[in-house]
Order: sequence, then structure tokens, then C-alpha cells
Amino acid sequence: MCGIVGYLGSGVAQEPLIDGLRRLEYRGYDSAGVAFHDGDVFTLARETGRVENLANVLQGKGSQSSLGIAHTRWATHGAVTVSNTHPHLSYDKKFALVHNGVIENFSSLKKSLLHKGIEFSSETDSEVLCNLIAYHYSTLSPNSDSFIQAVSTALSESRGAYGIAVLCLDNPEMMIGARRGSPLVVGIGEDANFIASDASAFVGRAKEAVFLKDGELAILQGSEFRITNQQGHVSEAVAQPLDQTLEEVELGDFSSYMEKEIFEQPHALQNTLRGRFGDDGTTAKLGGLEGHEDELRNVDRIVFVACGTARHACMVAEYLIEKLARVPVEVEHASEFRYRNSPKSGRSLVIAVSQSGETLDTLEAVREAKTKGLLTLGITNVVGSSLARETDGGVYQRVGPEIGVASTKAFSSQVCLCAMLGLALGRMRDLSPTDGSNLVEALLGMPDLIAEVLQKGEEIRELAVKYSKAEHLLFLGRQSLYPVALEGALKLKEISYAHAEGYPAAELKHGPIALINPECPSIFLVEGTKLSAKTIANMQEVKARKGPVIAFVPEDIEIPEGAADDIFRLPVAHEVIRPILANIPLQLFAYHFARLRGLDVDKPRNLAKSVTVE
Ligand code: G6P
Repeated sequence: MCGIVGYLGSGVAQEPLIDGLRRLEYRGYDSAGVAFHDGDVFTLARETGRVENLANVLQGKGSQSSLGIAHTRWATHGAVTVSNTHPHLSYDKKFALVHNGVIENFSSLKKSLLHKGIEFSSETDSEVLCNLIAYHYSTLSPNSDSFIQAVSTALSESRGAYGIAVLCLDNPEMMIGARRGSPLVVGIGEDANFIASDASAFVGRAKEAVFLKDGELAILQGSEFRITNQQGHVSEAVAQPLDQTLEEVELGDFSSYMEKEIFEQPHALQNTLRGRFGDDGTTAKLGGLEGHEDELRNVDRIVFVACGTARHACMVAEYLIEKLARVPVEVEHASEFRYRNSPKSGRSLVIAVSQSGETLDTLEAVREAKTKGLLTLGITNVVGSSLARETDGGVYQRVGPEIGVASTKAFSSQVCLCAMLGLALGRMRDLSPTDGSNLVEALLGMPDLIAEVLQKGEEIRELAVKYSKAEHLLFLGRQSLYPVALEGALKLKEISYAHAEGYPAAELKHGPIALINPECPSIFLVEGTKLSAKTIANMQEVKARKGPVIAFVPEDIEIPEGAADDIFRLPVAHEVIRPILANIPLQLFAYHFARLRGLDVDKPRNLAKSVTVE
């Protein structure tokens, strides 16, 4: 969603700020702006549409200032207009502010400021916060302490979620950041410090990062910075080395991040797997679960909470973990779990899965589980994310930054980690050493099988060409391939805007078969099990009604003549690996399908990479 980047250093702020905004584009946004502290005024530039529009406006002019804040906005309060675009200036033009999140009590705050004669020029909740800070500052003597005090007081009066960066005209060497519910990180560079909503904004410019906790303020002053709570008490600033590389956040030879991230999967999954198996080669050893062995051995129910693609990964996990560890598993939409008061025993384990580790509903689901005294684990890709900090234990995906809005490599690694968790839990219970070592071997061989599938990318492109006119598509699969069908449909919908639905193949007769006609292709995912015959029978039912059928089938399963129009062959693999393999061609299919329609796969309309509001 919205992105923040702020710069305070000895160089010119403009380039790092615009560059930072470009790096945050992946989060999804509809307008962008920047404010520079230029001595006695703020120089403001704001544009709707792409960061490139803003960069063009600034080209050849702009500011030489070494202090500035910038923002990409994803509209929540008020339409996509220049006046609603951040940064916002306060009514007295003394403060500039950028804000991620939602100030829930903004209308009552606004009313009381209007009563004081303060005027507004936007419809946003963020401008209310900016004016509130300015109002409190106006009651104090103008100095840096008052700046901090005004920000703290305004925040203590605000309800809701925020990540902010604020500048004050009276303090030309100072920037304040604060967070509650919306991520914020300080980047420490050699001749500049940064505040950003996401460390990728300053990769290559900062060497270390300090991730703020909820309720903390980052006060950047000259070349120094400190972290405090809202009462002004200094907290320890734990600086972590920034291990992201420029190569990871830049496109290289690829035409989109989605394509790059699909093709990165063999290598990314190797990283997920590396060093995570016991010496005897029969189980998985996940460092983040250490110390919880007894609790895990006694768990009598696992509840997964997640949103979007991560939830589909959890649905695959339900099949895998129940099979491997014989523990009942439920999967809930995080947004439903957080408000549902379903009975849970003290031995239930709640596992939250989130690529970003910042999805608000997923975090709230974790908080709700903790209120109930349940053990919580997190699976996330982002080191230092809120999910990583708030759960009792967990595992990192280690697939490098995922920038394409449509999640690809993150899904594969989430399923992989869930399989490893199932293996570890299974070995603590009744999974035999032989079954354990077969699975370890299969997991270690998976990156090569993914590479094998990717080598047949051209076949998928041809399928996309053949079916690219379709406006309605069905995705069908059974057992652990059912969630893969859901994920295939979601991916296509997200980036191509075609209507796609996923179903368990056997549900075909309970509704979706009514949609079958020559214009509605059905994509069948065929298992390599005894159930394959049933799925093939479903394919024939579709063919009998003149529906086109595309089948994704393991090499060792025969498809009768005429049961499918097109067949894509998948490598024969251990059943735990099959869902990951079956999903790879569906990612590619969605990618080509959208590209053939001339769409920007990295920035699908209305979507955001990380949904940090409710
Ligand atoms: C958004 C993204 C999806 C993602 C979901 C959950 O909807 O567009 O791609 O799957 O959020 O994100 P998370 O970071 O929690 O995995």
C-alpha cells in the first residue's frame, strides 16, 4: 500500500527520495509526492499516477535540499487527486507530513480543529494529523523539543494505525518518524540516514536498519538518531545489517518483477531449504521453533491464519500436515479469525503466514490468539517484520524480497516450509524414519524439478496465446491440488482481470458445470494418485459439453484420447512436492495471459502488495 521514504544527510535529497519511491512502487499506489525543507519554505511536488510523472516534473528543477520526505499514496480517505496526495503541509505551512495507515478518529479531531478556525485543503485523515501537530506546536515555544512534544501529543490523541515521517520548518536538521500498526524502519548510511516504510527504499545507500516497534518514535537530528517511546524515554536501537542486495531489488534482464520472481524459484527454494535438516536426514530442523519442542509435541490442533495467496499456501499445508503429522488443521481467513470467538484449547497452535509480515488482519489474528493464551508461530519472508516480532517463534522464508504484487516465489516457499513443519511434527509423533528420509530427499530435489518445469515456459506461453481471449476460466483440482486451483485462479484474476474461479474438481456438478461452453476453458490439475481417474472423468464431462480442457498432468499418468485439448506434463514427484510443482505453470500462464493483454503485471489495478489497513 502507501510507501514512505525520508532522507536527512549531507547530499542532495531529491535523487535518493525519487529512487526510494521507485523501489516502493511495488506496494501499489495511485499518486506520489515529495516535500523538501528549503530553508524558509517547503518545496512541494505532487502528482497523480506514476512516480515517473513526479520524476519528470522535478527533472531539471526540484530542490538542492538535503532534507525531504516522499510518499506513494494508495487512496483510502478521498479520491485520487493532487490535493489528497502526500506530503501534506499544515495550515500554517510549518509542517510537512507523510502517513501510512488510517486515523480512525480523524473526523472528531478534524471537527475540533475546524472549531479553532483551522482550514483544510484535502479530504484525508493524514492532513488532520499534520494540522493537529501544527496546532500543538503553536502552543509551545518554537524549538526541537517542542517539535517532538507536538508530534507525541498529536499521536496520543489519534486512534488507528500509522507510520509517519514529519518535518518542521523551524528545525532544518531534524526528521521525526513514528509507528503504530504500520511498519517503519530507520536506515543508517555513511553520510545520510533514512526513514522508510520498507528497507528496500534505501538498499545500496544504508548499511544497517533499525525496525521501529509500535509506539516508538525515531528522532533523526543531524547525523545522529535516537529511538524513544511516546513519553520520550530512549529505547535501545538494535541495528541489523541490511542483507538485501541491489541485485535482489532490481530487475536485471527481466521485463517484470513477477517474471524475475517466477524464474528465481529454484534458487530461492534452495535458500528456504538450506541447512534445515537434521544430521540423520530424517527430519527438518527449524531454528525458530527451538525451545517449543514440548509444546509442539503436545499440540492437538493447528489453526492457520493468513490472507490472499498466503492463505492458499496454508490450505495446501492443511493436507500436508494432517497427512504427515496426523494433527487436525484448520485454515481461517485472518480477517474472520480475529472477530470470531471460536473455542480453542490451550493446546491449539496458531500459525500465521504472511510474506510481508505486515498484513494488518494477519497481525490482529495473532494478537487475538495471544489474548487467548495460545502458542503462536509465524512464517514470513521479511526479517524484523511485525509478524516476526510478535509471534512466539517462527521461520523465515529466505526467498529474498518479493516485489511483484502477485505473490509467486513466496507461495512456493510457504508451502515448502509447511511441508517441513509437517515433517518435523510427524517425526515427533508417528512418521517413520524411512518416510521422513524419503521426504527430505524429495524436498532437497525439488529446486531441480522446479527448474525442469520452468524450462518448458514456452509451452505455457503458447497455451496462453491460444486461450488469451477467454473471459471466464475454471481451475479444478482435488486434495492438495484444490488450493493450487484456487491460487491459479487468483493469480489470473489479479493480473489479467479475467474472471477465474477455483473449485474442487468433484464440485463441478454442483454449479460450475452450468458455465461450461466453448468460450470457457477449464484448467484441470491432475494428481498422481488413485484419484486421478476421477479427475479425468470430470475432464470428460467438460469435453462432453464442448468446454475446452487444459490438463496439467504428471508424466506417468495417461490421459485418454480426446479427454483434453492441451496437456502440459509435470515431472513425477513425491506427493508433498506436487502442489508446488503444479502451481509453477499456473504462475507462468497468468503472467503470459496478462502480458498478451498488454497489462503491467507488477502493478495490477487497485491491488497493493501489502495490505496494512483493515
Ligand atoms: C495482498 C497481496 C497478495 C498477498 C496478500 C497477503 O493481497 O496482493 O499477493 O498474498 O496481500 O500478503 P502477505 O504479505 O500477508 O502474505
